[in-house]
Amino acid sequence: MNKKKYNPPQKLSLNANYKSLKDYSEEHKRSLKENDVFWSEKAERIEWFKKWKKVSDIDFTLPKIEWFIGGKLNVSYNCIDRHIKNGKGDAIAFYWEGNDPSESKKLTYNQLYDKVCRFSNVLKNLNISKGDRVCLYMQMIPELPIAMLSCARIGAVHSAVFGAFSSDSLRDRINDSKCKLLITQDTGVRGTKNNIPMKSNADVAIEQSPSIENTIVVMRTGEKVHMKNKRDHWWHEQIDSVKPHCEPEHMDAEDPLFILYTSGSTGTPKGVMHTTGGYLLYADYTFSSIFDHKSSDIYWCTADIGWITGHSYITYGPLSNCATSVIFEGVPNYPDFGRFWDIVDKYQVSLFYTAPTALRALMKEGDSWAQSRDLSSLRVLGTVGEPIKEPEWKWYYKIIGSKKCPIVDTWWQTETGGIMISPLPGATPTKPGSATLPFFGVDPVLLDENGNEIIGNNKNGLLAMKSSWPGQMRTVYGDHQRFKETYFTQFKGYYFTGDGAKRDEDGYYFITGRVDDVLNVSGHRIGTAEVEGAIGKADGVAEAAVVGYNHDIKGQGIYAFVTLMTGIEVNSAIEMSIFKTVTKEIGPHAKPDKIQFTSGLPKTRSGKIMRRILRNIANSNLEDMGDISTLADPSVVDKLIKGDQK
Ligand code: WTA
Repeated sequence: MNKKKYNPPQKLSLNANYKSLKDYSEEHKRSLKENDVFWSEKAERIEWFKKWKKVSDIDFTLPKIEWFIGGKLNVSYNCIDRHIKNGKGDAIAFYWEGNDPSESKKLTYNQLYDKVCRFSNVLKNLNISKGDRVCLYMQMIPELPIAMLSCARIGAVHSAVFGAFSSDSLRDRINDSKCKLLITQDTGVRGTKNNIPMKSNADVAIEQSPSIENTIVVMRTGEKVHMKNKRDHWWHEQIDSVKPHCEPEHMDAEDPLFILYTSGSTGTPKGVMHTTGGYLLYADYTFSSIFDHKSSDIYWCTADIGWITGHSYITYGPLSNCATSVIFEGVPNYPDFGRFWDIVDKYQVSLFYTAPTALRALMKEGDSWAQSRDLSSLRVLGTVGEPIKEPEWKWYYKIIGSKKCPIVDTWWQTETGGIMISPLPGATPTKPGSATLPFFGVDPVLLDENGNEIIGNNKNGLLAMKSSWPGQMRTVYGDHQRFKETYFTQFKGYYFTGDGAKRDEDGYYFITGRVDDVLNVSGHRIGTAEVEGAIGKADGVAEAAVVGYNHDIKGQGIYAFVTLMTGIEVNSAIEMSIFKTVTKEIGPHAKPDKIQFTSGLPKTRSGKIMRRILRNIANSNLEDMGDISTLADPSVVDKLIKGDQK
């Protein structure tokens, strides 16, 4: 597979933080060989109240993962106060661009300091202290990063729940980590939706969330919402009545910073827990190196803060680097398909980070949307969340970057805290579809099914990590055993990513996708078991099996095979009820794209569904069904292919 390589533009390399592949390779080798020395040098990038005693203490068999042991620091101090002390208080931290192009705001580091200190005092007044969990259920408004930083300032642990999740999902996440406080907004606006019922969704969730003592509500739209006396408080009223200073808590490097729920192979999402010192350093250093950030840059990441990309590369990584970022409330196609490029043009964005699904959706609309805007400010383009295929890679390179911007295809996960495999824009020649080479301190391997390392290039295997890095998750909140079983048990001594990958003749990694039952729909991780569980709750449904299929825009679409109870007829009302139930149980982003009703599912004699067969049918790969002799009833396969419902 000899793909064309695209060399970094010379002009960029000349001033880049890493200037050549040789620079990178030497530093990468050293980072693995002298791992602790390497990270202790890099840890000087951030400010510590007290230096660590030991750089790392790692044992994947337990698992035990600790970095910068004994060190004390505060994340909010590092993201704000430190820059003000260095004379950067008037620099812009955020340009906020509303869903409607007429709405925008900006916030300097000084102003961010004021807002974060005040809000930290609000949290304290509502009885929140170090270690308490605070749930954030918000859209992309400035108060979201402010709330995150305020939690970090006083040592509270935030748990952000993506704003499209339903009341039921919100309730389950609140209860799992027993949050004391919920922060939300009246209603939300996104694209043509101008009344997303955030507060009323939250109200339903709170009814079954006994740990919640108070809520704070941001007035975003002014829509009338129910405010329960004593329990519900308006953000703007609270923030005006407190002092404008708040001392940052001295946190231990291993104190929790946040929990973020993510889907796995089982029905219940897991609370991925990240801690303070290692996470901040990793987000800080990857951001600086992979985007080649300079103080003159304007950076924009289009992700939602409710996912890990937003945590690490909207809030913590950029702010720790004193970057100026754009935060965008809206969607790429509102008011029209030129919106992204209008924003690049308006703010003169130089570093742009988005997802392949957005690129595919925009590419479909033709080149004129981009070509009619001034995109000459762009310097580095990034992608994240799913494999990027050659057509959209080339479109991004030519039409958006005018062949002068390197594309950093960044592979990582909620669990890894930050980017793990990616080009460095001034150093690494890129190839369409490849995340290229591991970041410093990252030691990937390909394993075979038995856990043997696959040596050499031009090989396929299961992607695992041989050693730890500071941004690694530390546990599944409240369930260390699940942490162990999910990531460290199948292949002893490694962190298993759940992804498959190919390593080409140059040692470049091409991620081939998940090898477990997790789908990647428009860059959102969705567990098939969660969707199956939700469909199973719809009236009349006996059983459901969900698989992914290739989808032009979403990357993967959700394909559900559903059997109904005896006597229930297939009709559009049943289909509607399935959509409604999934929306209620999880949220609209998990609705199946296709439902196939069937009289039976392909099961082994022990009752296990053979998903391989369903995947083939969903993707119309009907040629080779493989061995179906172990099925309890092999005739099911023919029926499924013919689409028989009885
Ligand atoms: C997939 C998102 C190919 C992968 C940061 C991973 C990718 C999952 C890439 C994590 C990429 C992420 N190329 N696949 N550049 N980036 N993935 O936790 O399957 O939402 O395991 O984190 O997304 O998704 P998560």
